[in-house]
Amino acid sequence: MSEQIIDRADPNDLDAILSVPNPYVDEVVHAVKDNCDAIFTWDYEKGARPALNKLYEKAKGAQWNGETDLPWDTDVDPEKLTATLFGTEPNWEMVGMRVEGTPMQSWGSKEWLEMHTEMQNWSLSQFMHGEQGALICTAKIVETVPWIDAKYYAATQVVDEARHVEVFAKYLDTKLTGHYQLNTHLGLLLDDIISDSRWDMTYLGMQIMVEGLALAAFGTMHMITPDPLLKQLLRYVMSDEARHVAFGVLSLKEYYEGLTEAELFERQQFAFEAALRMRDRLLNQEVWERMGVDPKTAILAGKRGESATLEDPFQILLFSKIVPNCKKLGLLDANDGWLRQRFSEIGVIQFEDWADTSIEYEELDAVSADRAAAEGA
Ligand SMILES: [Fe+2]
Ligand SMILES: [Fe+2]
Repeated sequence: MSEQIIDRADPNDLDAILSVPNPYVDEVVHAVKDNCDAIFTWDYEKGARPALNKLYEKAKGAQWNGETDLPWDTDVDPEKLTATLFGTEPNWEMVGMRVEGTPMQSWGSKEWLEMHTEMQNWSLSQFMHGEQGALICTAKIVETVPWIDAKYYAATQVVDEARHVEVFAKYLDTKLTGHYQLNTHLGLLLDDIISDSRWDMTYLGMQIMVEGLALAAFGTMHMITPDPLLKQLLRYVMSDEARHVAFGVLSLKEYYEGLTEAELFERQQFAFEAALRMRDRLLNQEVWERMGVDPKTAILAGKRGESATLEDPFQILLFSKIVPNCKKLGLLDANDGWLRQRFSEIGVIQFEDWADTSIEYEELDAVSADRAAAEGA
């Protein structure tokens, strides 16, 4: 079963996951066939889908400028920020790792700070690449979705994503200490999403899965970062992302109601493959390579067993938006609960009754909240 979904017999086989070559390292550009028809519609009735129309009107009023609306004059010292969060001396227990018998056992303050600084460079690099994936996917949705309200909304999301790529790239270039290439597993997922010819698969892969995980990840980083610039950047990006995920849920809810069980099964498999790819990306293997440590040794130091299963509660929490949204779309229950079973196996089903993201964008609209506060001042 699993080989049809992902390229290995056991989805948790750590050796197989770590041995997938990274095709993005020496590239300047990367080409993917997108296999789609561009669809014109002659039905211009605006507001035929009221929820999408409302989202479009909201998006027009919530635009912000990445150059002028963020405090770029903030002085950022990555090592100092790392020390504030993790201390200056190794504390492996705090990060849930057992390092006896590994090369990390002899690490001092220098390597400890370097590792966390690299983790930050890596995370923000993956966010930046993911944002470019979102830019391309949403441009594709403008072409392929047959509904005018969805084309209008998607056009605003294209601008949002351009701004997100721009601000993450600027933060990396001007405030941090280095870039990473696109992670293999995130890259394979983006390639899969873009090359699928069916318009709803772009939404399912990007708006539901990738952006659902991003929204949760931005939320965690926003909560813990001591840097006021990054905090504000993430707050504004999340305000846009909540709309994007809502766009996916609202569009697919209507479409999936009309699909057969066999058609839904293809969507369930795609969602599960995406979940596995994103879990595998969280192994952050490139950081360990850069630190000169065998990735498998480092990954196993943070695990109870020998496999790629999720154990870190913070990583598990990253699935807290995806699972309720899949439920809302009927993907957990179709085909005798096939996806519910798979999500149980990877340990994320406990989020199924958490709030879905179809209306959360109203609460997360930090841009409008700040404008209202400024007007009232
Ligand atoms: Fe984005
Ligand atoms: Fe987005």
